[in-house]
Amino acid sequence: MISLPMIMVALLFSLLFLKMFSSSKRNKSCLSYPPSPPSLPIIGHLHLLKPLIHQAFKDLSHKYGPIILLKTGSVRFVVVSNPSLAKEFLKENELTYSSRTMNMAINIVTYHDSTFAFSPYDTYWKFMKKLSTSELLGSRTLSQFLPIRTRELHGFIRSLAEKSMANESVNLTEMLMKLSNNIISQMMLSIKSSGTDSQAEEARVLVREVTKIFGEFNVSDFLEFLKVLDLQGFKKRAMQIHKRYDALLEKIISDRENLRKNKGCDDDDDNKVKDFLDVLLDVSDDKDSEVELTRNHIKSFILVSPQSKETQDCFTAATDTTAISVEWSIAELFNNPRVLKKAQEEVDRVSGNQRLVCENDTSNLPYIHAIIKETLRLHPPIPLLMRKGINDCVISGYNIPKGSILCINIWAMARDPTIWDSPLEFRPERFLEGQGNALDIKGQHFELLPFGTGRRGCPGMPLAMRELPAIIGALVQCFDWNMFDSKEKLLDHGIPIDMDERPGLTAPRAHDLICIPVARLNPIPFLQL
Ligand code: HEM
Repeated sequence: MISLPMIMVALLFSLLFLKMFSSSKRNKSCLSYPPSPPSLPIIGHLHLLKPLIHQAFKDLSHKYGPIILLKTGSVRFVVVSNPSLAKEFLKENELTYSSRTMNMAINIVTYHDSTFAFSPYDTYWKFMKKLSTSELLGSRTLSQFLPIRTRELHGFIRSLAEKSMANESVNLTEMLMKLSNNIISQMMLSIKSSGTDSQAEEARVLVREVTKIFGEFNVSDFLEFLKVLDLQGFKKRAMQIHKRYDALLEKIISDRENLRKNKGCDDDDDNKVKDFLDVLLDVSDDKDSEVELTRNHIKSFILVSPQSKETQDCFTAATDTTAISVEWSIAELFNNPRVLKKAQEEVDRVSGNQRLVCENDTSNLPYIHAIIKETLRLHPPIPLLMRKGINDCVISGYNIPKGSILCINIWAMARDPTIWDSPLEFRPERFLEGQGNALDIKGQHFELLPFGTGRRGCPGMPLAMRELPAIIGALVQCFDWNMFDSKEKLLDHGIPIDMDERPGLTAPRAHDLICIPVARLNPIPFLQL
């Protein structure tokens, strides 16, 4: 039988429990939000978002601290520019911040919810992530595609050597984009932009348009009530890009399907290295596959699946980022002749100038590796890591509501003198001396996150880190440069080239790199073409 004292004790515990529960709830709701600049009615902080958004965020962080909250209409951004806070969000609360967000343009161009890079952290994403890291971008597949990368690099060096002999200028920005695009389009679709095959060229033009529109500022993304009006014509443009992209991919995929149907049991074809499209079509044909891969999934994965403004899917992610990194490296080397000379000495030592430096040399090129780290530190091609919080959480004593868009400003962290000595100086030696030696770019060191970190980190890093040393190594081995400034005037000796950035999804140089390659040696006898 239940006695009165037992009822009293039970009541007491219930009251205590209720009190604890209500006070913990009150404590959480009493927590403040991160600091915020003054805002305007209706538009909130919209007027503070300038086209080079990572630069605008850095200025705001300077004034309001390493974590700030901005509201624009219905959207809430949390901007972070400090490694320990970045770690708290991305490592200690990884599952809360493993999703991304889509703006209107991304949504339209990437087949609505079919995208990988913008997808929430769900079964589809996990399946595609496994497929990317094992089948598509795994070390066996990357090795199988080495001959393609070598052939393309040699073709690129040959074109530069010919221009050098003719003392003609080149648009290095365009040539690098083309090189990257040719490599990735062959790995993914077995097409390249040459001769009559203009599909890769068309894809290259589309990639630029896609990254541009993803990074452009669309007021309707922030102010819900403007969505129907499409004041800037975004929706219309996004739909046109989508239509062109869809037509191109539809053609490529149906050609491939026909080829697969007609293949029969041709042994030669069975021995051929499978490109990404074949792997994706195999999965989509597999009735027992864990996830049903639709045609839209395939199309979206191929072109645009990275980083919300963040990342495109494979094509856009890979082409732009790799080309941009090489371009910034060459611009920095031009502005820092001391570093260029050391790089040339290292490459000459390794290759003996009896052959072109190659991917297999990269473990013997520590200074080139340090140049790559220093370039990615100062010029991360993706300057903001963007994730969406799927739950409420408390970070550093601040209340961070569910649905907030997290922007980790890796660009600003690279310029913070409390994190780096002389941060604006291009000094690769910082990664070869003392503690800098241990700093890597794999997402463990939160002051240096060019490829992001954790589950949503870049799956293309192994490919990029094979390509970059070989391309930069070959360029410094074969050429010096006479550069033109942004007004197309040849720069006098010792005058640095400008390092302005262009707004967009990624952070490329504002002006194309136009230069005359000056041969250090004749590479043509070394080329395997
Ligand atoms: C220098 C070259 C590159 C840089 C600096 C870079 C950087 C990044 C960054 C910062 C992210 C977001 C990571 C995060 O949120 O934590 C990302 C995502 C991504 N990258 Fe890269 N990337 C590069 C090359 C590539 C290549 C070569 C590919 C593919 C072949 C690729 C495919 C992707 C994809 C698919 C995502 C989205 C992953 C997801 O959301 O789960 N990237 N990249």
